[in-house]
Order: sequence, then C-alpha cells, then structure tokens
Amino acid sequence: MPSKLTAVSALLAAAALLYQFFLKDFLFATLGLGRTVLSVSEFPYSCHRIHGDPNIQACEDMWLDEKSRTLFLACSDPVARKHWMPNIHRLNASGRALHDHVVALNIDNPSSEGGFTYRVLQTPGFSGVHGDGRIHVVGLTGSSSASTSADANGLEIQLWLINARPSVDPLTGELLDNTVVGGNSTIELFTTEPDTDSMKHIKTFADPHIATPNNVALAEGGGFFFTNDHGLHKAGWQHHLSTILATGDVSYCSASGDCKQVASGFKFPNGLLLGSDGLLYVPSAAVGGITVFQPGLNGSVKKVHHIDLNYPIDNLSEDANGDIFAAAMPKVLQGMAAFNDPLNAPTAPATVWRVRRLNRDVTDKYDYELVKVIEDGAGEVLPSMTTVIHDALTGRLFMSSEFHVEVPNQCEWL
Ligand SMILES: *[C@@H]1O[C@H](CO)[C@@H](O)[C@H](O)[C@H]1NC(C)=O
Ligand SMILES: *[C@@H]1O[C@H](CO)[C@@H](O)[C@H](O)[C@H]1NC(C)=O
Ligand SMILES: *[C@@H]1O[C@H](CO)[C@@H](O)[C@H](O)[C@H]1NC(C)=O
Ligand SMILES: *[C@@H]1O[C@H](CO)[C@@H](O)[C@H](O)[C@H]1NC(C)=O
Repeated sequence: MPSKLTAVSALLAAAALLYQFFLKDFLFATLGLGRTVLSVSEFPYSCHRIHGDPNIQACEDMWLDEKSRTLFLACSDPVARKHWMPNIHRLNASGRALHDHVVALNIDNPSSEGGFTYRVLQTPGFSGVHGDGRIHVVGLTGSSSASTSADANGLEIQLWLINARPSVDPLTGELLDNTVVGGNSTIELFTTEPDTDSMKHIKTFADPHIATPNNVALAEGGGFFFTNDHGLHKAGWQHHLSTILATGDVSYCSASGDCKQVASGFKFPNGLLLGSDGLLYVPSAAVGGITVFQPGLNGSVKKVHHIDLNYPIDNLSEDANGDIFAAAMPKVLQGMAAFNDPLNAPTAPATVWRVRRLNRDVTDKYDYELVKVIEDGAGEVLPSMTTVIHDALTGRLFMSSEFHVEVPNQCEWL
C-alpha cells in the first residue's frame, strides 16, 4: 500500500505538472499577472477615433489594400456580439446582429466630419442564410491584382470573409438550437473594385473542416489557410476545454474547396498571416507566441520556428515593408468585461508589437526583433483592440475592435 507520504508527493508532483502545463501559462501569459503595462503617453503617437457613426462599429477585422489605398472593415453591432460570437461559444442565434456589413474606407480622403469618406458595400444576389441575404462577419482578408475585366478600374479586389452563419433547418430555414449544434460558419469569397459600393459573391466554402474558423490567410495558387480557434468543436464541453486541451488547428482549403487539417495542437490560434517572406505565422490568443511554418505543396506545412512573445495575440497583419504588426491584449479579463458590456465597461488595455524578421533573405535563419510600438495600459485612447494595421506610407496605425464602440481609431506619429 502506498504510504501517505507517497500519495502526497504524487499529488504535489501532479500539481506541479498542472502548474507547469496549464496554470503558469494561464496566470502569466493569458491573464497577464504581474505584467507591467505602460501608459499611452510614453509613446510618440496621437490617437483619435475615426468616426462616431453606426456604420463603423464593432469592426472585428480590417484589411488594407495598398494599391487602392482602401481600408476594408468587417463591422457589426457591439451589443449583439455578446449574444452571437460562435468562436467563443456565444450561441444565442436570435440575438445576433442583422446588419453586418463590409465598409470600404478611403484612408487618403478625409471627410468633413474629421473621418474619411467611405462606402458600405452591398451584396446584391448573395443568398445569405436560407435566402435572407445576410452576412455575419468575423475575420476578413483580401488581395488585389490588375483586373482582366474591361469595366473594372484596372484593379480587381478579392475579399475573403469568415461568415458566422447560424445553423438553420435546411428545409424550413428556422433557426436550430445553436447552443447544441453550434453555428454554421463558412468562408466567403467576394470580389469588388475601387470606388464601387457593392461586392459580388463568387463562392461559399462550406466543409466539415471549416468548423470554428477565426481567420484566413491566402496561399499560393488560390487556396487558403485558416485557423479553427476551437478545432472541430463548435459547442459543448469540448469547445470550452479546447484552449486547455489545445485542440485548435490550422487547416487548408484548395481553390476548388477541398479542405483538410494541416497542423494541430494549438491553444486558441487566431488571426494568422502568410508573410511576404512566404512563411505562415500563427499567433495564439490564449498563451501568446507565434508559431512559424514553412508551407509546402498542397497546403502542407512544416514548423520551422516559434517566436516567444508572452502576450495573448489577437491578430497579425503585415505592412508594405514586410514588418508584422500584432494586436495584443495584455489583460484578457478586462477585455472580456468590455466584451460583455461594450457600452459601459472601461476599455481594456491594448498593446501593439512590431515583429520584424532580420536577415530575411537568409534561408533557414529565423531571427525576429520585437518592438513594443504603442501600449495603452489604462485603455484611455485605444479601444479594446483586436486588430492593428500599419500604413507604411504615412506611418499611421489603424486599430479596431470586435466589440467596442469607440472604434476604429487612427494613431499618427507625433
Ligand atoms: C438572446 O437574445 C435575445 C435577443 O437579443 C434576448 O432577448 C434573449 O434574452 C437572449 N437570450 C439569452 C439566453 O441571453
Ligand atoms: C450551412 O451552410 C451551408 C452553406 O450555405 C448550407 O448548405 C447548409 O445547409 C447549412 N447548414 C446548416 C445546418 O445550417
Ligand atoms: C482578430 O481577433 C478576433 C478576436 O479574437 C478574431 O475573432 C478575429 O477573427 C481576428 N481577426 C484577425 C485578422 O485575425
Ligand atoms: C497535390 O494535389 C494534387 C491534386 O489533388 C495531387 O495530384 C498531387 O499528388 C498532390 N501532391 C502532393 C505532394 O501531395
């Protein structure tokens, strides 16, 4: 029979293991215990809100088209987000926002109200959920290239959206109990052109592997990578435990819509990015850090590096110089409070990191310089930010938040 002492030491060992594997990450990386967060006044930026306008709220994600100097934003309703956000098990489908839309903001064209001129893109002909024409925007990315069509202004812009559809009965269109079956997220491809006020639907990617999609990164050859932030678990306890059990994944769909998982074992993988250096960068919103992959044929990936960055990271974007900008949340609990009560809770602290690859022309060398570009410890001027974009041409930072009303914001160098 094992002595009491062995039992106690076994327990202690188990506790130590637990601490090592879960609690330490959770307390220090996720919750940010003991993390010093600087005040925004220590950084040489001046920030202000771009628009106080109901069309431009709760914009969860953004993508900057450098060629047309247009910032595309995926916007929603901040109050409805807490009911319907399948990625974090908010599955009250009847409380979802009904007017999500994509905004095209002309970042070089100030408006008389102190913001910028913009267009809300209509989606004529898009069937939506059982014919209702609606989209439910989460992540957004894009690409643009010279247009082959004669009526386009020389540029065709492709937009890829994570569409958080609710699950419905395929015959009647009635909402199913989404708390049980989970949502029915798809990935949508639209095309648009500069200066038009609509986008044309090209294709819906729906597949069992597109289960809890968080964001998309375009791959070579028309396919794309995406993260399932909770793996294949749309609802229930497996969803809730996904971040601890590391069941998040990176998946890939070919242009023709064949989808498969290509990497697994992630804790809340989030806004991934295919860099101009050809590498795939996958951040974690739960424990921080960025895993770096070298993509191969047919969407296969090989892990080549891990960038240690002890901050929960929401989203990555790349600027025209090839620098990566990471939106990070130094105090996650405050972020959750703001999410649950967007109109009253104080904004959560926010941090922007610049991740610059040094010696990027040397194959197999993975050196990264990390610079804190701006931080707002008191959440004074930056919203509870989930995405940041750096406009390398003017040095401006654009920041946005999935749930805050005081967004998007623009910060200029002083
Ligand atoms: C779901 O959303 C509806 C509409 O906003 C709301 O009336 C209802 O109370 C919500 N249900 C739950 C369980 O929060
Ligand atoms: C999910 O969306 C796809 C694509 O629109 C549709 O074919 C399917 O019927 C939907 N399933 C549910 C359960 O809503
Ligand atoms: C940004 O972060 C939010 C919150 O985690 C996520 O849902 C969204 O899809 C992300 N967008 C990008 C660019 O990854
Ligand atoms: C890639 O996919 C194509 C078409 O599905 C297939 O013919 C080819 O063998 C695949 N290559 C590899 C290396 O898996």
